[in-house]
Amino acid sequence: MIVLGIESSCDETAAALVNENKEILGEALLSQEEHKAFGGVVPEIAARSHLEHIDGILEQCFAKTNLSLKDVDAIAAASGPGLIGGVIVGVMTAKALSIALNKPFIAVNHLEGHALAARVSNDVEFPYLLLLVSGGHCQILVVKDVGQYERLGTTIDDAAGEAFDKVAKMLGLGYPGGPAVEKLAAAGNEKRFTLPRPLIGSNDCNLSFSGLKTAVRKIVETYSPDDNLMHADIPAQDVADICACFQYTATDCLCRKLGKAICYFKQNYPQGKHLVVSGGVAANSYLRNKLQNLAENNDLIFAAPPIRFCTDNGVMIAWAGLERFRKGYVSPLDFKPRPRWPLDANAPKAAGAGGVKA
Ligand code: KG4
Ligand code: ZN
Repeated sequence: MIVLGIESSCDETAAALVNENKEILGEALLSQEEHKAFGGVVPEIAARSHLEHIDGILEQCFAKTNLSLKDVDAIAAASGPGLIGGVIVGVMTAKALSIALNKPFIAVNHLEGHALAARVSNDVEFPYLLLLVSGGHCQILVVKDVGQYERLGTTIDDAAGEAFDKVAKMLGLGYPGGPAVEKLAAAGNEKRFTLPRPLIGSNDCNLSFSGLKTAVRKIVETYSPDDNLMHADIPAQDVADICACFQYTATDCLCRKLGKAICYFKQNYPQGKHLVVSGGVAANSYLRNKLQNLAENNDLIFAAPPIRFCTDNGVMIAWAGLERFRKGYVSPLDFKPRPRWPLDANAPKAAGAGGVKA
């Protein structure tokens, strides 16, 4: 069984071919550079760029294989949530291939792509506890099975990656900010500034990063009170210290709420063995190390996709498509791309809705 997956929901145009032995048979990915000048993704530019590059990416995906489109058993596309122009490009391409090849189309929830990605490289069985941290989302979930999720907590404002990106922007570190903040934080003193940890005392698994971000802004402003956010005036060591303090505090918030989630998970899913992290922020080695410790201290096994498969890619969509396909879930060709699509509303549905039994 070979599934072709297409990802185009944000600023990566990507495709991949995977089989049920978890082999990545082909892969291509283009990270759009056009957004750097704007310090964030510009939806219309992203959509145009996906349209321009999707055919080339598909060609590249097959180029180093001896496979052709005819060898593909199903075509999956990230069909939401995401920037709708880009999502439409991927969905229309997948549907066109599905019609031309007479092979099933599978609408994959982008978040499900992240949620199942760790299963490609690790033996992670259901149910598992998942921290999904990306540029647009920050959630703690129990992954019960393909399409079956229990959401334990979510951010009430910014996503974790968004907070990394905003802090990077304030410090003039460019976009995407996460990798830059992580790199500089390694040389910083994480105890120098005490930053707030919003919602830390609340008795649920929800998170909040907005106040943390504002606290960083206030520190940055002290360097140039008259000229808002002149990051050029901040000494390099201070920038490193700010990055380290932010990363330390954000990670602490995530670990604390995960601690609560672990208690719930152990009580309600005693057969569960894994703590998994995925999404772009899961590429952060500092966070991965802390989560590894947290898992070990709670007798759980820590698992995460390899770093390059944490940020958006075609493999995670192809794999989620394959997991759906082998359970018999395919999508109707009138499936409408969804700018919003909560993961816990993702259970396979009857014909005419989100998915049908093949
Ligand atoms: O999953 P992803 O590629 O796109 C979304 O679905 O949102 O995640 C992108 C996010 C960006 O906010 C980026 O800054 C963040 O992941 N990110 C990181 C790191 N690498 C990427 N955040 C912290 N540390 C990193 N090393
Ligand atoms: Zn993503």
